[in-house]
Amino acid sequence: MVEFKTHEHDVLVIGAGGAGLRAAIEASAQGVTVGLVCKSLLGKAHTVMAEGGMAASLANVDSRDNWQVHFADTMRGGQYVNHWRMAQLHAQEAPVCVNELESWGAVFDRTKDGRILQRNFGGHRYPRLAHVGDRTGLEMIRTLQDHGVHQGIDVHHECTIIRLFKDGERTVAALGYDREKGRFRLFRAGAIVIATGGIGRAFQVTSNSWEYTGDGHTLAYDSGAELIDMEYVQFHPTGMVWPPSVRGILVTEGVRGEGGVLRNSEGKRFMFDDIPDNYKAQTASDPEEGWRYTQGDKDARRPPELLTRDHVARCIMNEVKAGRGSPHGGVYLDIAWIKEKLKDAEQRIKKKLPSMYHQFKELAGIDITKEAMEVGPTTHYVMGGIRVDPDTQQSSVPGLFAAGECAAGLHGANRLGGNSLSDLLVFGKRAGEYAAKFAKENSGGKVADAEIQDAITEALSSLERQETGGENPYEIQFALQKDMQALVGIVRKQDEMDNAIDIVDGYRKRAQKVAVHGSREYNPGWHTAMDLHNLLTVSEAIARSAGSRPESRGGHFREDFPDKDEKFGKLTTVVNKGSDGSMQLRHDPVAQWPDELQTIIDENQK
Ligand code: FUM
Repeated sequence: MVEFKTHEHDVLVIGAGGAGLRAAIEASAQGVTVGLVCKSLLGKAHTVMAEGGMAASLANVDSRDNWQVHFADTMRGGQYVNHWRMAQLHAQEAPVCVNELESWGAVFDRTKDGRILQRNFGGHRYPRLAHVGDRTGLEMIRTLQDHGVHQGIDVHHECTIIRLFKDGERTVAALGYDREKGRFRLFRAGAIVIATGGIGRAFQVTSNSWEYTGDGHTLAYDSGAELIDMEYVQFHPTGMVWPPSVRGILVTEGVRGEGGVLRNSEGKRFMFDDIPDNYKAQTASDPEEGWRYTQGDKDARRPPELLTRDHVARCIMNEVKAGRGSPHGGVYLDIAWIKEKLKDAEQRIKKKLPSMYHQFKELAGIDITKEAMEVGPTTHYVMGGIRVDPDTQQSSVPGLFAAGECAAGLHGANRLGGNSLSDLLVFGKRAGEYAAKFAKENSGGKVADAEIQDAITEALSSLERQETGGENPYEIQFALQKDMQALVGIVRKQDEMDNAIDIVDGYRKRAQKVAVHGSREYNPGWHTAMDLHNLLTVSEAIARSAGSRPESRGGHFREDFPDKDEKFGKLTTVVNKGSDGSMQLRHDPVAQWPDELQTIIDENQK
């Protein structure tokens, strides 16, 4: 019998980024006890990588904005495979949530008349991103933390959850270990909210840090929940490409929102060469018009650098492939050029983009007020995730809720920049509210000791094998990341995705034999061995889902099927764990929206 410590909460929230914190605050406000588990230290979350702002139709900079336009932009960006109800709730509730965050102490940049300032971002018709320089996600986390510490929430730092338990159909507990000493902890709860973020670490080049190994996706999947849309992975167009140690770190879209332009090695603004038909009417036809748009001219149209991320990332790849890239395999992102237009350009760049200025100065020795940056696509976000009820955020497993990046539906095939932060607030709040309600009505589930001990035995198995000469878990992790990048990355082909499924299967067999040296204390090798199951599960889900969709849409682009297919545009890909343990895949119809929302979509096409 291995010992474990037991904690009891009405609601347990797993993950302490924006969605987890917001869910915990809301559950606590409903009068239940709340536990908040973070894999890392509180405050270290991918939320901070949404730098440029949070999208909400406050209409502070352009009074033409409203929830209907935001809804239509989100659906078009997601290429109409979004869940309409989530897109509607998000667009309607985001302004309230942003104002609430301000009332809790978030210090947003201001307009001249003192309102929350909003900036341009790709795919948003009007300046819509409430921001704090280029540190918006950080400010959001700071504010939620400051507010949350007064709500009586119990925080369990540096604790990784490895298994969920059910009593019958209902989720009632979670098992984890603390990363310092390796002691096991059982969390009993009336309801559990998963808010663990994304899967970026399944790929080689990513803006995600070490925590993002698809934990929540896998916990839910193993527990019987469905995952949807896993083929849609967002490659943010601008990550750092040089030096190698910082490859993948995010370069905010805010740079382009403030007038930054993309050029190839010939100095050409290549984004003007390929403008999708459904965005032509809203895209500037020359650089001067694009510049005027970024400076707030309401009659001008947006520059092509502010097209959706999926499109910009592919255009960059095409330049690199055609031999017109920068020396280290990217293209140039230039904000320094605005000196030609503005006398105070240098101060303006430092004021609007302080983190980018420091990031490039410190990490690459580049002064972005004087030189162009080298940038290229980086795995940033997964649109796919746990299928949830749009209003309550409950998964198909009773008592198990999900919010934020690990939940799916809002963003469809491609997320618009800035929609993530408002997503975290809107649906974090909803998940907290409904989880609390569920916990009030359901408590006292049972878990058999044998089940807990089985999970612990499995967790310890890599340490038990240390004398066997078994493989190092890092080798499998690195090889998997390399293969996923090459075979299921920005541009996909059937034979490569089929190959990826076989390769993942091979890694799974090898992962069962990994051996880790040392003890449970301070042992990142052991943590990595446990993360492998999650990485392999989400990788298989991505490869299988992508291979089942013979068309290109949003974050899923296929060289062998470069166009959209109307039939597949009406289908959502679903994976779940079959009774034999294998991954089952099917396509369900996309939920059809009511006529009044179709009218809003049609009116905003122009
Ligand atoms: O580019 C960015 O600042 C990222 C924002 C986002 O992913 O929403």
